[in-house]
Amino acid sequence: MTDKNKYRSNEEILAVRKKHFLHTAGLYHPSKPLQLVKAQGAYVWDSEGKKYLDSIGGIVCISAGHNHPRIKKAMMKLLEDDTIQHTSTLYLTEYSVDAAKALVEEAPNGLDRVSFTNSGSEANELAIMAARHSTGETMVVNLRHSYHGGTAATLASCGHSSWRFKAQPVTATTSALEPNCYRCPFGKKPDSCSFECAKNVETTIQTSTNGKIAAFIAEPVMGVGGFIAPPNEYFHQVSKIVHNYGGKYISDEVQTGAGRCGGNFLLTKEIGIDADMVTMAKGFGNGAAIGAVLLKTEDAEKMAGKAYFNTFGGDAYQTLQAKLTMDIIREEGLVANAKAMGALLKDGLEQMKKKYPVIGDVRGRGLLLGAELVKDQATKTFATEEALAFMDLCRDRGLLLGKGGLMGNVVRIAPALSINREDVSFMLKVMDESFAELEKVRKK
Ligand SMILES: Cc1ncc(COP(=O)(O)O)c(C=O)c1O
Repeated sequence: MTDKNKYRSNEEILAVRKKHFLHTAGLYHPSKPLQLVKAQGAYVWDSEGKKYLDSIGGIVCISAGHNHPRIKKAMMKLLEDDTIQHTSTLYLTEYSVDAAKALVEEAPNGLDRVSFTNSGSEANELAIMAARHSTGETMVVNLRHSYHGGTAATLASCGHSSWRFKAQPVTATTSALEPNCYRCPFGKKPDSCSFECAKNVETTIQTSTNGKIAAFIAEPVMGVGGFIAPPNEYFHQVSKIVHNYGGKYISDEVQTGAGRCGGNFLLTKEIGIDADMVTMAKGFGNGAAIGAVLLKTEDAEKMAGKAYFNTFGGDAYQTLQAKLTMDIIREEGLVANAKAMGALLKDGLEQMKKKYPVIGDVRGRGLLLGAELVKDQATKTFATEEALAFMDLCRDRGLLLGKGGLMGNVVRIAPALSINREDVSFMLKVMDESFAELEKVRKK
Protein backbone atom coordinates (compact mmCIF):
# COMPACT_ATOMS: atom_id res chain seq x y z
CA MET A 1 0.00 0.00 0.00
CA THR A 2 2.88 2.40 0.60
CA ASP A 3 5.83 3.47 -1.50
CA LYS A 4 8.83 2.84 0.77
CA ASN A 5 11.02 5.47 -0.83
CA LYS A 6 8.45 8.19 -0.37
CA TYR A 7 9.16 8.58 3.33
CA ARG A 8 12.07 9.84 5.41
CA SER A 9 14.00 7.17 7.22
CA ASN A 10 13.09 6.47 10.85
CA GLU A 11 16.69 7.31 11.77
CA GLU A 12 16.41 10.80 10.26
CA ILE A 13 13.17 11.50 12.11
CA LEU A 14 14.54 10.12 15.36
CA ALA A 15 17.66 12.30 15.09
CA VAL A 16 15.59 15.50 14.76
CA ARG A 17 13.31 14.46 17.60
CA LYS A 18 16.31 13.72 19.78
CA LYS A 19 17.91 17.08 19.06
CA HIS A 20 14.90 19.41 18.97
CA PHE A 21 11.92 17.87 20.76
CA LEU A 22 11.22 18.04 24.47
CA HIS A 23 12.00 14.62 25.83
CA THR A 24 8.86 14.46 27.89
CA ALA A 25 7.07 11.68 26.08
CA GLY A 26 8.50 8.39 24.92
CA LEU A 27 7.68 6.23 21.95
CA TYR A 28 5.65 3.08 21.70
CA HIS A 29 7.97 0.24 20.63
CA PRO A 30 11.16 2.16 21.58
CA SER A 31 13.50 -0.59 20.35
CA LYS A 32 11.89 -0.50 16.87
CA PRO A 33 9.89 2.73 16.54
CA LEU A 34 7.13 2.87 13.98
CA GLN A 35 6.49 5.56 11.41
CA LEU A 36 2.80 5.32 10.58
CA VAL A 37 1.99 6.89 7.24
CA LYS A 38 -1.38 5.69 6.00
CA ALA A 39 -4.68 4.72 7.50
CA GLN A 40 -8.09 3.40 6.51
CA GLY A 41 -10.87 2.30 8.83
CA ALA A 42 -9.38 0.22 11.63
CA TYR A 43 -6.06 -0.26 9.82
CA VAL A 44 -2.80 1.65 9.51
CA TRP A 45 0.37 1.14 7.47
CA ASP A 46 3.96 1.94 8.36
CA SER A 47 6.55 3.51 6.07
CA GLU A 48 7.77 0.05 5.03
CA GLY A 49 4.31 -0.90 3.80
CA LYS A 50 3.41 -3.22 6.70
CA LYS A 51 -0.27 -3.26 7.64
CA TYR A 52 -1.52 -3.26 11.25
CA LEU A 53 -4.88 -3.46 12.94
CA ASP A 54 -4.75 -0.25 14.97
CA SER A 55 -6.12 -1.18 18.35
CA ILE A 56 -5.20 2.02 20.08
CA GLY A 57 -6.38 4.52 17.43
CA GLY A 58 -3.58 7.06 17.78
CA ILE A 59 -4.20 7.42 21.45
CA VAL A 60 -7.83 6.37 21.86
CA CYS A 61 -8.94 8.91 19.25
CA ILE A 62 -10.24 6.92 16.30
CA SER A 63 -13.94 6.22 16.74
CA ALA A 64 -15.65 6.29 13.32
CA GLY A 65 -12.51 4.89 11.68
CA HIS A 66 -9.42 6.40 10.08
CA ASN A 67 -10.17 8.47 6.97
CA HIS A 68 -13.85 7.59 6.96
CA PRO A 69 -15.06 8.14 3.37
CA ARG A 70 -17.86 10.52 4.45
CA ILE A 71 -15.53 12.70 6.49
CA LYS A 72 -12.87 12.60 3.79
CA LYS A 73 -15.34 13.69 1.11
CA ALA A 74 -16.71 16.50 3.26
CA MET A 75 -13.22 17.78 4.13
CA MET A 76 -12.17 17.73 0.48
CA LYS A 77 -15.27 19.72 -0.40
CA LEU A 78 -14.48 22.34 2.24
CA LEU A 79 -11.07 22.84 0.64
CA GLU A 80 -12.40 22.78 -2.94
CA ASP A 81 -15.01 25.39 -2.03
CA ASP A 82 -12.46 27.62 -0.28
CA THR A 83 -14.65 27.36 2.81
CA ILE A 84 -13.38 29.68 5.46
CA GLN A 85 -11.51 27.72 8.10
CA HIS A 86 -10.88 30.33 10.66
CA THR A 87 -13.45 32.89 11.69
CA SER A 88 -13.51 32.34 15.49
CA THR A 89 -16.74 32.51 17.47
CA LEU A 90 -16.85 36.28 16.85
CA TYR A 91 -18.58 35.48 13.55
CA LEU A 92 -21.44 33.14 12.79
CA THR A 93 -20.77 29.71 11.33
CA GLU A 94 -23.26 26.94 10.73
CA TYR A 95 -20.76 24.13 11.39
CA SER A 96 -20.26 24.78 15.09
CA VAL A 97 -24.01 25.20 15.59
CA ASP A 98 -24.73 21.83 13.93
CA ALA A 99 -22.10 20.10 16.07
CA ALA A 100 -23.43 21.71 19.26
CA LYS A 101 -27.02 20.67 18.48
CA ALA A 102 -25.96 17.10 17.71
CA LEU A 103 -23.97 16.90 20.95
CA VAL A 104 -26.79 18.25 23.09
CA GLU A 105 -29.08 15.56 21.62
CA GLU A 106 -26.71 12.93 23.02
CA ALA A 107 -26.30 14.64 26.40
CA PRO A 108 -27.82 13.59 29.70
CA ASN A 109 -30.89 15.61 30.70
CA GLY A 110 -30.25 19.23 31.53
CA LEU A 111 -26.83 19.54 29.93
CA ASP A 112 -27.79 21.85 27.11
CA ARG A 113 -24.90 24.31 26.82
CA VAL A 114 -21.76 23.58 24.82
CA SER A 115 -18.37 25.20 24.57
CA PHE A 116 -15.85 23.89 22.05
CA THR A 117 -12.13 23.70 22.80
CA ASN A 118 -9.09 22.32 20.99
CA SER A 119 -8.32 19.50 23.38
CA GLY A 120 -9.41 17.48 26.37
CA SER A 121 -7.15 19.43 28.71
CA GLU A 122 -8.78 22.69 27.71
CA ALA A 123 -12.23 21.19 28.11
CA ASN A 124 -11.44 20.08 31.67
CA GLU A 125 -9.70 23.37 32.46
CA LEU A 126 -12.83 25.23 31.39
CA ALA A 127 -15.12 22.88 33.32
CA ILE A 128 -13.08 23.36 36.49
CA MET A 129 -13.14 27.12 36.04
CA ALA A 130 -16.91 27.04 35.43
CA ALA A 131 -17.44 24.96 38.58
CA ARG A 132 -15.31 27.29 40.67
CA HIS A 133 -17.07 30.33 39.26
CA SER A 134 -20.50 28.84 39.80
CA THR A 135 -19.94 27.68 43.38
CA GLY A 136 -17.59 30.42 44.56
CA GLU A 137 -15.44 27.62 45.99
CA THR A 138 -11.99 26.59 44.79
CA MET A 139 -11.39 23.05 46.01
CA VAL A 140 -11.52 20.28 43.43
CA VAL A 141 -11.52 16.64 44.49
CA ASN A 142 -9.99 14.18 42.07
CA LEU A 143 -9.05 10.52 42.20
CA ARG A 144 -5.60 9.01 42.60
CA HIS A 145 -4.56 7.39 39.28
CA SER A 146 -6.65 9.82 37.24
CA TYR A 147 -5.47 11.91 34.29
CA HIS A 148 -7.31 15.00 33.11
CA GLY A 149 -4.78 16.83 30.96
CA GLY A 150 -1.57 18.81 30.80
CA THR A 151 -2.70 22.33 31.72
CA ALA A 152 -2.46 23.97 35.15
CA ALA A 153 -5.74 22.99 36.80
CA THR A 154 -5.93 19.61 35.10
CA LEU A 155 -2.38 18.62 35.96
CA ALA A 156 -3.00 19.67 39.54
CA SER A 157 -5.74 17.03 39.44
CA CYS A 158 -3.50 14.32 38.03
CA GLY A 159 -2.93 11.23 40.13
CA HIS A 160 0.37 10.05 38.59
CA SER A 161 3.74 11.38 39.75
CA SER A 162 5.31 10.77 36.33
CA TRP A 163 3.06 13.41 34.77
CA ARG A 164 3.81 16.06 37.38
CA PHE A 165 6.74 18.45 37.23
CA LYS A 166 8.71 19.80 40.16
CA ALA A 167 7.20 23.25 39.85
CA GLN A 168 3.68 21.90 39.43
CA PRO A 169 1.30 23.81 41.68
CA VAL A 170 -1.02 21.47 43.53
CA THR A 171 -3.24 24.21 44.80
CA ALA A 172 -6.88 23.82 45.69
CA THR A 173 -7.04 20.18 44.77
CA THR A 174 -7.08 17.04 46.83
CA SER A 175 -7.28 13.37 45.93
CA ALA A 176 -9.65 10.66 47.08
CA LEU A 177 -8.58 7.02 46.99
CA GLU A 178 -9.12 5.22 43.72
CA PRO A 179 -12.11 2.88 43.14
CA ASN A 180 -9.95 0.04 41.84
CA CYS A 181 -11.62 -3.33 42.42
CA TYR A 182 -8.53 -5.31 41.34
CA ARG A 183 -6.19 -3.49 43.70
CA CYS A 184 -8.63 -2.17 46.29
CA PRO A 185 -6.83 0.40 48.47
CA PHE A 186 -9.04 -0.79 51.36
CA GLY A 187 -8.11 -4.44 50.89
CA LYS A 188 -11.72 -5.41 50.09
CA LYS A 189 -13.21 -7.76 47.51
CA PRO A 190 -15.84 -6.38 45.08
CA ASP A 191 -18.57 -8.85 46.07
CA SER A 192 -18.29 -8.14 49.80
CA CYS A 193 -17.27 -4.48 50.01
CA SER A 194 -19.41 -1.59 51.23
CA PHE A 195 -18.10 0.96 48.74
CA GLU A 196 -15.42 2.26 51.08
CA CYS A 197 -14.04 4.02 47.97
CA ALA A 198 -17.22 6.09 47.58
CA LYS A 199 -17.27 6.91 51.30
CA ASN A 200 -13.66 8.03 50.97
CA VAL A 201 -14.79 10.90 48.76
CA GLU A 202 -16.82 12.19 51.69
CA THR A 203 -13.99 11.63 54.17
CA THR A 204 -11.64 13.47 51.84
CA ILE A 205 -14.01 16.45 51.64
CA GLN A 206 -14.45 16.43 55.43
CA THR A 207 -10.72 16.25 56.15
CA SER A 208 -8.99 18.09 53.30
CA THR A 209 -11.29 20.98 52.40
CA ASN A 210 -13.21 23.72 54.18
CA GLY A 211 -16.25 21.48 54.02
CA LYS A 212 -17.48 22.84 50.70
CA ILE A 213 -16.05 22.03 47.29
CA ALA A 214 -16.16 23.49 43.80
CA ALA A 215 -16.08 20.17 42.00
CA PHE A 216 -15.35 16.51 41.89
CA ILE A 217 -13.76 15.38 38.64
CA ALA A 218 -13.53 11.76 37.52
CA GLU A 219 -13.36 9.59 34.43
CA PRO A 220 -16.10 6.92 34.31
CA VAL A 221 -13.31 4.54 33.26
CA MET A 222 -9.82 5.71 34.20
CA GLY A 223 -7.94 5.80 30.90
CA VAL A 224 -4.29 6.66 31.49
CA GLY A 225 -4.68 4.94 34.89
CA GLY A 226 -5.11 1.63 33.06
CA PHE A 227 -8.80 1.33 32.17
CA ILE A 228 -9.91 1.01 35.79
CA ALA A 229 -13.68 0.59 35.54
CA PRO A 230 -15.54 1.11 38.84
CA PRO A 231 -19.05 -0.32 39.25
CA ASN A 232 -22.02 1.95 38.44
CA GLU A 233 -23.05 2.16 42.10
CA TYR A 234 -19.80 3.97 42.91
CA PHE A 235 -20.83 6.89 40.71
CA HIS A 236 -24.37 7.02 42.09
CA GLN A 237 -23.09 7.25 45.66
CA VAL A 238 -20.35 9.75 44.82
CA SER A 239 -22.54 12.15 42.85
CA LYS A 240 -24.86 12.40 45.88
CA ILE A 241 -21.91 13.13 48.17
CA VAL A 242 -20.53 15.75 45.79
CA HIS A 243 -23.87 17.56 45.62
CA ASN A 244 -24.34 17.35 49.40
CA TYR A 245 -21.11 19.32 49.78
CA GLY A 246 -22.13 21.91 47.22
CA GLY A 247 -19.85 20.72 44.42
CA LYS A 248 -20.32 20.24 40.69
CA TYR A 249 -19.78 16.75 39.32
CA ILE A 250 -17.49 16.87 36.27
CA SER A 251 -17.51 13.66 34.25
CA ASP A 252 -14.38 13.49 32.09
CA GLU A 253 -15.42 11.54 29.01
CA VAL A 254 -12.38 12.43 26.94
CA GLN A 255 -11.57 8.72 26.51
CA THR A 256 -14.87 7.04 27.35
CA GLY A 257 -17.17 9.24 25.24
CA ALA A 258 -18.28 9.05 21.62
CA GLY A 259 -19.87 5.63 22.03
CA ARG A 260 -16.65 3.79 22.87
CA CYS A 261 -18.03 2.12 25.98
CA GLY A 262 -21.17 0.75 24.28
CA GLY A 263 -24.76 1.31 25.39
CA ASN A 264 -24.84 5.04 24.87
CA PHE A 265 -22.91 7.83 23.17
CA LEU A 266 -21.92 9.07 26.64
CA LEU A 267 -21.05 6.65 29.42
CA THR A 268 -22.28 9.25 31.92
CA LYS A 269 -25.78 8.76 30.49
CA GLU A 270 -25.44 4.97 30.31
CA ILE A 271 -24.42 4.73 33.97
CA GLY A 272 -26.92 7.41 35.02
CA ILE A 273 -24.32 9.64 36.69
CA ASP A 274 -25.92 12.84 37.97
CA ALA A 275 -23.24 15.02 36.34
CA ASP A 276 -23.26 18.80 36.09
CA MET A 277 -20.66 18.91 33.35
CA VAL A 278 -19.29 16.42 30.83
CA THR A 279 -16.05 16.96 28.95
CA MET A 280 -15.05 15.34 25.67
CA ALA A 281 -12.27 15.19 23.09
CA LYS A 282 -10.32 12.37 21.38
CA GLY A 283 -12.96 10.11 19.72
CA PHE A 284 -15.44 12.98 19.63
CA GLY A 285 -13.58 14.38 16.62
CA ASN A 286 -12.31 11.00 15.37
CA GLY A 287 -8.78 12.41 15.61
CA ALA A 288 -9.57 16.07 14.84
CA ALA A 289 -8.23 18.59 17.36
CA ILE A 290 -11.50 19.29 19.12
CA GLY A 291 -12.80 19.10 22.66
CA ALA A 292 -16.08 20.13 24.21
CA VAL A 293 -17.69 20.89 27.55
CA LEU A 294 -21.36 20.20 28.16
CA LEU A 295 -22.83 22.29 30.98
CA LYS A 296 -26.17 23.01 32.59
CA THR A 297 -27.87 26.31 31.85
CA GLU A 298 -27.62 27.43 35.49
CA ASP A 299 -23.81 27.14 35.49
CA ALA A 300 -23.44 28.54 31.98
CA GLU A 301 -25.62 31.54 32.85
CA LYS A 302 -23.41 32.43 35.79
CA MET A 303 -20.48 32.85 33.41
CA ALA A 304 -22.32 35.42 31.30
CA GLY A 305 -20.71 38.85 31.47
CA LYS A 306 -17.21 37.37 31.79
CA ALA A 307 -15.08 36.69 28.74
CA TYR A 308 -13.99 33.17 27.85
CA PHE A 309 -12.57 33.08 24.37
CA ASN A 310 -10.83 30.28 22.53
CA THR A 311 -9.23 31.35 19.24
CA PHE A 312 -9.55 28.04 17.44
CA GLY A 313 -12.35 26.44 19.47
CA GLY A 314 -15.34 25.74 17.26
CA ASP A 315 -13.69 26.25 13.89
CA ALA A 316 -15.48 24.95 10.81
CA TYR A 317 -13.04 22.17 9.95
CA GLN A 318 -13.00 20.66 13.43
CA THR A 319 -16.70 21.01 14.20
CA LEU A 320 -17.67 19.52 10.85
CA GLN A 321 -15.54 16.47 11.64
CA ALA A 322 -17.14 16.14 15.07
CA LYS A 323 -20.65 16.47 13.62
CA LEU A 324 -19.98 13.87 10.93
CA THR A 325 -18.37 11.56 13.48
CA MET A 326 -21.55 11.77 15.59
CA ASP A 327 -23.70 11.11 12.48
CA ILE A 328 -21.60 8.11 11.48
CA ILE A 329 -21.63 6.65 15.00
CA ARG A 330 -25.42 6.92 15.07
CA GLU A 331 -26.19 5.87 11.49
CA GLU A 332 -23.74 2.95 11.38
CA GLY A 333 -24.86 1.66 14.78
CA LEU A 334 -21.33 1.90 16.15
CA VAL A 335 -22.33 2.17 19.82
CA ALA A 336 -24.09 -1.19 19.63
CA ASN A 337 -21.18 -2.58 17.64
CA ALA A 338 -18.71 -1.40 20.29
CA LYS A 339 -20.77 -3.23 22.91
CA ALA A 340 -21.00 -6.44 20.89
CA MET A 341 -17.40 -6.56 19.66
CA GLY A 342 -16.15 -5.46 23.09
CA ALA A 343 -18.02 -8.35 24.72
CA LEU A 344 -16.42 -10.85 22.30
CA LEU A 345 -12.97 -9.44 22.94
CA LYS A 346 -13.43 -9.36 26.69
CA ASP A 347 -14.67 -12.92 26.71
CA GLY A 348 -11.67 -14.02 24.63
CA LEU A 349 -9.30 -12.27 27.03
CA GLU A 350 -11.02 -13.82 30.05
CA GLN A 351 -10.42 -17.24 28.48
CA MET A 352 -6.75 -16.34 27.96
CA LYS A 353 -6.49 -15.28 31.60
CA LYS A 354 -7.18 -18.91 32.56
CA LYS A 355 -4.30 -20.09 30.34
CA TYR A 356 -1.70 -17.38 30.92
CA PRO A 357 -0.71 -16.48 34.49
CA VAL A 358 0.77 -13.20 33.26
CA ILE A 359 -2.79 -11.83 32.91
CA GLY A 360 -3.92 -10.57 36.30
CA ASP A 361 -7.10 -8.75 35.39
CA VAL A 362 -9.29 -8.15 32.34
CA ARG A 363 -11.53 -5.10 32.56
CA GLY A 364 -13.16 -2.19 30.79
CA ARG A 365 -16.36 -1.43 28.94
CA GLY A 366 -17.28 -1.77 25.29
CA LEU A 367 -14.19 -1.16 23.18
CA LEU A 368 -12.17 0.35 26.01
CA LEU A 369 -10.55 -2.80 27.34
CA GLY A 370 -7.49 -3.43 29.44
CA ALA A 371 -5.49 -6.46 30.50
CA GLU A 372 -3.37 -5.85 33.58
CA LEU A 373 -0.20 -7.93 33.41
CA VAL A 374 1.37 -9.27 36.59
CA LYS A 375 4.45 -11.32 37.33
CA ASP A 376 2.32 -13.55 39.50
CA GLN A 377 -1.47 -13.72 39.84
CA ALA A 378 -1.24 -14.18 43.63
CA THR A 379 1.21 -11.39 44.46
CA LYS A 380 -0.02 -9.10 41.62
CA THR A 381 3.51 -7.76 41.13
CA PHE A 382 3.45 -5.27 38.25
CA ALA A 383 4.71 -6.83 34.99
CA THR A 384 5.90 -3.65 33.32
CA GLU A 385 8.62 -5.16 31.08
CA GLU A 386 6.25 -7.96 30.11
CA ALA A 387 3.65 -5.42 28.93
CA LEU A 388 6.24 -3.78 26.68
CA ALA A 389 7.41 -7.15 25.36
CA PHE A 390 3.81 -8.21 24.73
CA MET A 391 3.12 -5.05 22.74
CA ASP A 392 6.20 -5.74 20.59
CA LEU A 393 5.14 -9.36 20.01
CA CYS A 394 1.70 -8.21 18.87
CA ARG A 395 3.17 -5.50 16.69
CA ASP A 396 5.36 -8.07 14.90
CA ARG A 397 2.16 -9.97 14.12
CA GLY A 398 0.36 -6.87 12.80
CA LEU A 399 -1.56 -5.65 15.87
CA LEU A 400 -0.94 -2.31 17.60
CA LEU A 401 -1.91 -1.97 21.25
CA GLY A 402 -1.47 0.74 23.85
CA LYS A 403 -0.39 0.66 27.45
CA GLY A 404 -1.23 2.51 30.64
CA GLY A 405 -1.44 2.23 34.40
CA LEU A 406 0.70 3.85 37.05
CA MET A 407 3.37 1.18 36.46
CA GLY A 408 2.80 0.86 32.71
CA ASN A 409 1.70 -2.76 33.05
CA VAL A 410 -1.81 -2.50 31.60
CA VAL A 411 -2.23 -3.34 27.94
CA ARG A 412 -4.87 -1.06 26.46
CA ILE A 413 -7.20 -1.97 23.62
CA ALA A 414 -9.28 0.76 21.96
CA PRO A 415 -9.76 0.12 18.22
CA ALA A 416 -12.14 1.93 15.84
CA LEU A 417 -15.75 1.31 16.87
CA SER A 418 -16.40 -0.18 13.43
CA ILE A 419 -14.31 -3.35 13.86
CA ASN A 420 -16.05 -6.57 12.84
CA ARG A 421 -15.98 -10.21 13.95
CA GLU A 422 -13.08 -10.98 11.63
CA ASP A 423 -11.05 -8.18 13.19
CA VAL A 424 -11.88 -9.49 16.67
CA SER A 425 -10.81 -13.03 15.67
CA PHE A 426 -7.55 -11.63 14.33
CA MET A 427 -6.92 -9.63 17.51
CA LEU A 428 -7.62 -12.61 19.75
CA LYS A 429 -5.45 -14.90 17.63
CA VAL A 430 -2.52 -12.48 17.71
CA MET A 431 -2.86 -11.87 21.46
CA ASP A 432 -3.15 -15.60 22.15
CA GLU A 433 0.00 -16.37 20.17
CA SER A 434 1.84 -13.45 21.76
CA PHE A 435 0.86 -14.41 25.31
CA ALA A 436 1.99 -17.98 24.57
CA GLU A 437 5.35 -16.71 23.37
CA LEU A 438 5.67 -14.34 26.33
CA GLU A 439 4.99 -17.17 28.79
CA LYS A 440 7.65 -19.30 27.08
CA VAL A 441 10.22 -16.53 27.51
CA ARG A 442 9.15 -16.01 31.14
CA LYS A 443 9.66 -19.68 31.95
CA LYS A 444 13.26 -19.65 30.67
C1 LIG B 1 -9.42 11.26 30.49
C2 LIG B 1 -8.59 12.32 29.83
N1 LIG B 1 -8.88 13.60 30.06
C3 LIG B 1 -8.18 14.59 29.47
C4 LIG B 1 -7.13 14.32 28.64
C5 LIG B 1 -6.37 15.42 28.00
O1 LIG B 1 -6.72 15.50 26.67
P1 LIG B 1 -5.76 16.24 25.61
O2 LIG B 1 -4.51 15.40 25.50
O3 LIG B 1 -6.59 16.27 24.36
O4 LIG B 1 -5.48 17.58 26.13
C6 LIG B 1 -6.80 12.99 28.37
C7 LIG B 1 -5.67 12.65 27.49
O5 LIG B 1 -5.18 11.57 27.43
C8 LIG B 1 -7.54 11.97 29.00
O6 LIG B 1 -7.26 10.69 28.78
